[in-house]
Amino acid sequence: MRKETDAMTRRTALRLTVLGGASMAARARISTPATASTRADAIPRFTLPLKLPAVLEPTVRTPTQDEYTIVQREAAQEILPGRLTKIWGYQGMFPGPTLRVRRNRPVVIRHTNQLSTHTAVHVHGGVNPPDSDGFAADMVMPGASRTYTHPNRQRAATLWYHDHAMDMTGENVLRGLAGFYIVEDDEEQSLPLPRGPFDVPLLIQDRTFNADGSFAYDTVRHMGFEGEVMLVNGVPWPKMEVSTRKYRFRLLNGSNARLLRLALGNTEPITLIGTDGGLLPAPVTITTLPLAMAERAEVIVDFSRYAVGTQVFLTNALVKSPLTPIMRFDVVKRETDDAQIPARLSDPGFLKRPKTATARTWTFRPTFSLHDLPTPIVWTVNGKRFDPNRCDATVPLGDVELWRFRNEAPVRFVGSPHPTHVHLAHFQILERNGKAPLIHERGWKDTVALDIGEEVLVLLRCEQFRGRYMLHCHNLEHEDHAMMTRFDVT
Ligand code: C2O
Ligand code: CU
Ligand code: CU
Repeated sequence: MRKETDAMTRRTALRLTVLGGASMAARARISTPATASTRADAIPRFTLPLKLPAVLEPTVRTPTQDEYTIVQREAAQEILPGRLTKIWGYQGMFPGPTLRVRRNRPVVIRHTNQLSTHTAVHVHGGVNPPDSDGFAADMVMPGASRTYTHPNRQRAATLWYHDHAMDMTGENVLRGLAGFYIVEDDEEQSLPLPRGPFDVPLLIQDRTFNADGSFAYDTVRHMGFEGEVMLVNGVPWPKMEVSTRKYRFRLLNGSNARLLRLALGNTEPITLIGTDGGLLPAPVTITTLPLAMAERAEVIVDFSRYAVGTQVFLTNALVKSPLTPIMRFDVVKRETDDAQIPARLSDPGFLKRPKTATARTWTFRPTFSLHDLPTPIVWTVNGKRFDPNRCDATVPLGDVELWRFRNEAPVRFVGSPHPTHVHLAHFQILERNGKAPLIHERGWKDTVALDIGEEVLVLLRCEQFRGRYMLHCHNLEHEDHAMMTRFDVT
């Protein structure tokens, strides 16, 4: 059984690790020795059918709220054909069950931790009171329970819930603690978008498997885990049978540290309708979709342009390897389609940039500490490592603020992309490197990718709740190795 001192042990272990010079090269990656893993090329590709995570039903519906119970437990799941993988799952499932909730209808979730690891549950993109936001130090110890209240006073959007335990997030999420949390509202439901079986959440993650089928994870290194196998909704390189009609896909990059740039087929057009914080004002056509860790995008793909029998790959254009294709859509039948993509989707209620405000700056960079030899890198925000007891900024409730995020790599070869995520407040990206934001960044966001040397200026307003919240890099190994800060809404 893990003890509370485990975090300390881990920090100590970090100091004892030998990181060779080569591992510190640009965007160094964790690689697992090939001898230890099931060969990725032995895993079947595009034959296993895509699965959809089950939708969790409330245990109690009262006139005013829905109540759920979730048990976090270990289970053996067949991810690779004929082998069992030990997972840590919400309800013993990987990925966790999907929650579909309604705007303004509160849900109360009782989580019981039957794992041997400590946990904390965060609804990413949720506007939640501080004691229900999965603050990293608010941990649920093995055997304990905690009740989280989510008022859902926010726009319809594709959110996700995942573990956030202090120093343990990378491992806990990798072993399975993540699922979709979809907020619906009347405005979005009134649109003629594809719905029901044609509204499909796709959680994209990478993993490496040991020869015995278990997940490979090195808890000591902290450059960011990248796996050898692409999974969608927990299925390696799946295929999905589709008909000649429109589908709405809710895309989530739930990887610990893998950046994606999604493309369909031969970079065929995709209609982007939503970002992290819900629907865009109007649809836009794109051909590639960058999606950093924790970012979401909602897209419509119209398969009516393909003949029955066509196979269309969803790929990651950032890699040239067997990892390039992620999944395959097989167009198997002709079908009429009553779904439409309306020219106007939603009023996002964007903020107005205040004339006088000066920006708060958050700088993400590695620091070097001789105390941490022979692993001298510590990931920091504004030069400091995370301390749950230290508040690094007080933010007045209801004020519109300008925040600047900057990725600084003082020594270029230890730089790394840092997808920056703010709890509680969604933001509007005003500028990326002094220019207009990218096409897929022009809606509400809660996570923004920052490559080495990049700077992003955003507008945000913390609303509804006072208390302590976090801001951090969503490379989960960076996060666990201190690239996180606390701000207090006052
Ligand atoms: Cu998705 Cu603070 O996390
Ligand atoms: Cu979050
Ligand atoms: Cu980072």
